[in-house]
Amino acid sequence: MSIFRLGLIGAGRMGQVHLRAAARSPHVEIVAIAEPSAAARAALKASGLALYAGAEAMIDAGGLDGVLIATPSSTHVAAVATVAARGLSILCEKPCGISAVQAREAAAIAEKAGIHLQIGYWRRFVPELEALRDRIQAGQLGDLYLVSCFQWDETPPSTAFRSSGGGAFIDMGVHEFDQLRWLTGQELAHYRVATSRTAFADAVAADPDAVQLLCDLSNGATGLVSLGRRFAPGDACWVEVFGTAGFAESRFFWPPAGEGVFLSALRAQLEDFAGAVLGRASQAATASDAIAALVAAEAATDAMWQLQTRERATP
Ligand SMILES: NC(=O)c1ccc[n+]([C@@H]2O[C@H](COP(=O)([O-])OP(=O)(O)OC[C@H]3O[C@@H](n4cnc5c(N)ncnc54)[C@H](O)[C@@H]3O)[C@@H](O)[C@H]2O)c1
Repeated sequence: MSIFRLGLIGAGRMGQVHLRAAARSPHVEIVAIAEPSAAARAALKASGLALYAGAEAMIDAGGLDGVLIATPSSTHVAAVATVAARGLSILCEKPCGISAVQAREAAAIAEKAGIHLQIGYWRRFVPELEALRDRIQAGQLGDLYLVSCFQWDETPPSTAFRSSGGGAFIDMGVHEFDQLRWLTGQELAHYRVATSRTAFADAVAADPDAVQLLCDLSNGATGLVSLGRRFAPGDACWVEVFGTAGFAESRFFWPPAGEGVFLSALRAQLEDFAGAVLGRASQAATASDAIAALVAAEAATDAMWQLQTRERATP
């Protein structure tokens, strides 16, 4: 297979991680970057990659097989439109917009342009989680009572990011909503939220330091999504599954091993994307999956606002 040549739009925090992941792949190469920040472009000069201030110029220069979008979530739809108009397939970072309306818009743009659009829910490429999914779907844990998905960061991002990223459920929770659906094959409904009142001064209303969500899964189980912004052991994600025939726990992203798991999954995701563009089967999240995750995140956010309104009314 010849090397798949990828253009990257947005070389910030996540774009840089994708560059490191792609460097591990013999099949996919990031050959060009579109990044509006002159300082970020200057820092990338030594990489030898073709650098552009805008996506249009990068794509119009030619030679790309597909495009990876890693711009801020609020710009995803515009970036999808720019790339789709030029006929290239897209791997877009999660969540694919900051609302279900935006994700639907991106899906419609891709469909109309006849291009492949997949969304970067990297958990689907973690071997430990793939094995857990196989066990659940083969019935080895029996009927499920509870599936708990935890995502706790060591320290929060900047207050500016926390105020603009759409809130805890849109920025972080979407990973867990996609993971719950993907692991169990069940749909989510009926969201109940509790936020901890233990908070540092820089917590923002939309992004509390710790928020817990319960929901119903369509086959009768309960889903728990636990999000936290301060976790002393380091950045961590884990899953616990309680069934009538057994219990399983996967600390699939746990310090200090998280970085390696992340890079391997991102590399597998890039290779899956390249394969999908070439017509092979893909296990990635589709635009419909992105819409479902954002629908859940919006319902969870509504439940959180209702809770905060009640708490303000009855201090
Ligand atoms: N999958 C994950 O686990 C994960 C983790 C972190 C972030 N993300 C996602 O990655 C995306 C980027 O997040 P980040 O933390 O890297 O943000 P960031 O702000 O660090 O980086 C975004 C970069 O995009 C550039 N940019 C902004 N508008 C642009 C445009 N129109 N064209 C090209 N470049 C543009 C900015 O200059 C910046 O360098 C978000 O959608 C976020 O949700 C995913």
